[in-house]
Amino acid sequence: MHFYSLVTVALTIFAVTLLLQSRFGVGAPPNFVLLFADDLGFGDLGIYGHPSSMTPNLDHLAANGLRFTDFYCTSPVCSPSRAALLTGRFQTRSGVYPGVFYPGSRGGLPLNETTIAEVLKPLGYATAVVGKWHLGLGVNGTYLPIHQGFDHYVGVPYSHDQGPCANLTCFPPDVKCFGTCDLGVVTVPLMFNDTIKQQPVSFPDLEKTYSDFAVQFILTSAKRKQPFFLYYPSHHTHYPQFAGKEATGQSSRGKFGDSLYELDRTVGKIIQALQDGGVHNNTLVLFTADNGPELMRKSRGGNSGLLKCGKGTTYEGGMREPAIAYWPGKIQPGVTHELASTLDILPTFASLGRAKLPQVYLDGFDMRSILFGSGPSKRKAMFYYPDDPNQKYGLFAVRVGKYKAHYYTRGSPHSDTTADPKCSWQSTLQQHDPPLLFDLDTDPSENYNLAASPNPEYKAVLQMIQEVKTRFEETMVFGESQIAKGRDPALEPCCNPQCNPKPICCTC
Ligand SMILES: *[C@@H]1O[C@H](CO)[C@@H](O)[C@H](O)[C@H]1NC(C)=O
Ligand SMILES: *[C@@H]1O[C@H](CO)[C@@H](O)[C@H](O)[C@H]1NC(C)=O
Ligand SMILES: *[C@@H]1O[C@H](CO)[C@@H](O)[C@H](O)[C@H]1NC(C)=O
Ligand SMILES: *[C@@H]1O[C@H](CO)[C@@H](O)[C@H](O)[C@H]1NC(C)=O
Ligand SMILES: *[C@@H]1O[C@H](CO)[C@@H](O)[C@H](O)[C@H]1NC(C)=O
Repeated sequence: MHFYSLVTVALTIFAVTLLLQSRFGVGAPPNFVLLFADDLGFGDLGIYGHPSSMTPNLDHLAANGLRFTDFYCTSPVCSPSRAALLTGRFQTRSGVYPGVFYPGSRGGLPLNETTIAEVLKPLGYATAVVGKWHLGLGVNGTYLPIHQGFDHYVGVPYSHDQGPCANLTCFPPDVKCFGTCDLGVVTVPLMFNDTIKQQPVSFPDLEKTYSDFAVQFILTSAKRKQPFFLYYPSHHTHYPQFAGKEATGQSSRGKFGDSLYELDRTVGKIIQALQDGGVHNNTLVLFTADNGPELMRKSRGGNSGLLKCGKGTTYEGGMREPAIAYWPGKIQPGVTHELASTLDILPTFASLGRAKLPQVYLDGFDMRSILFGSGPSKRKAMFYYPDDPNQKYGLFAVRVGKYKAHYYTRGSPHSDTTADPKCSWQSTLQQHDPPLLFDLDTDPSENYNLAASPNPEYKAVLQMIQEVKTRFEETMVFGESQIAKGRDPALEPCCNPQCNPKPICCTC
């Protein structure tokens, strides 16, 4: 064929492709930004009613996006909640229980679990996580994000209170961190992929490292026209609070407020980068948090608003979270009361990116009907496991529609010091038969037990919830506990591996 005919054919194919793409809406695959706060309560954001929080960027996303009132994480503590977020499966299946990972933990999120990053990678997505991982390190960093589908990792691989912090600076110029954090382990490292860059991490500089990396990642991917998935699990607002120069002293809510404001500023920088990269209209931004507020920190902890108790409990305050979905031109601004969960994010991203679902038992549902206002949620129930689930007790509570039944309740040290004695660690495990029953629409604070009422209607509700619970538990296969594999001090990350005596010499 003549050269010019070849060019004509090529141009024609190109034009037809463009036409088909615009006709059938088969444009470039969307980008995903997943923002995940730490120990942030239902009542902590300005837009969720906190009177003195300063969260202008998150408030803007909510005002111009979809704000959820009934969105749940899957565990009242950190590691299990993150395992479920990234896999779309309850933590009991992957074995991320009981409690959380430590610096020297032998286990991690099993590598044969499929994360959101691994779902999107085969479609050519660039993937990065910046912030708190907390799904294990293991021998030679076996469980780090770079082995779970992420091209890049910049962050602290666990909670930033899991290392001595007493003499570290949390706010500039030199305000020491409040409290002691965990003793007898290495100081907290900052990692780039599987390399330790700094130990101990400099808290006042940390958020700038994160936001600089996140912005560069977005701009680079946008320039390459490569779809991307950015996961930003923030350390904010977990104890001890910290912030850099730009956020310190800015809020009227003290140290917690400054830490939350620093998170909010990073969100602002990420949104600005989406605009600067020209991908603002082709990116779904989702914000939520891992579990309820750590009330034991008093005014240095978060707030669950009108919900009962907080972190560590299966009351609403432990697991119902603020959540916002933002996609200009695609998601209509508003508020939704539909039931949704962190479990639903993987199936939703997969369907929007036209990716294959992993061939395993998934607990999540595609949320597109909620996001685009085309119908009710596919999720009809939410299941509440405690921070230490086991097969003997099973679920602590089940919500179906507006009703929630508690089979077991318990307070938690994390939720201590509030006025409600039910939240305290002294409130030990209690079985309820018949279960406690609450109507969360009329009584979101779980104050008025309907099972005590003589109305026979509630008996039928409890029966119905029991059936949903039984059906769910029949599907539940507990994976081998990764956290029960224990700890080995030799596995703690040390920037100076041959040094002596550990852990104190691990400083670079
Ligand atoms: C991962 O491997 C373990 C151990 O072989 C197995 O029990 C588990 O079912 C596997 N999980 C998945 C999601 O394939
Ligand atoms: C971990 O990495 C070091 C250095 O590469 C190597 O010598 C050691 O054998 C590795 N350990 C295991 C258990 O693979
Ligand atoms: C992480 O590793 C990837 C692949 O080797 C590399 O391209 C990237 O620059 C590394 N990222 C960081 C933050 O070191
Ligand atoms: C903090 O510094 C003091 C004084 O130098 C020292 O005695 C103490 O052991 C340090 N604490 C930690 C946790 O490093
Ligand atoms: C993005 O969407 C908004 C709202 O629909 C629209 O006003 C704007 O022109 C769009 N921008 C681009 C670059 O497409």
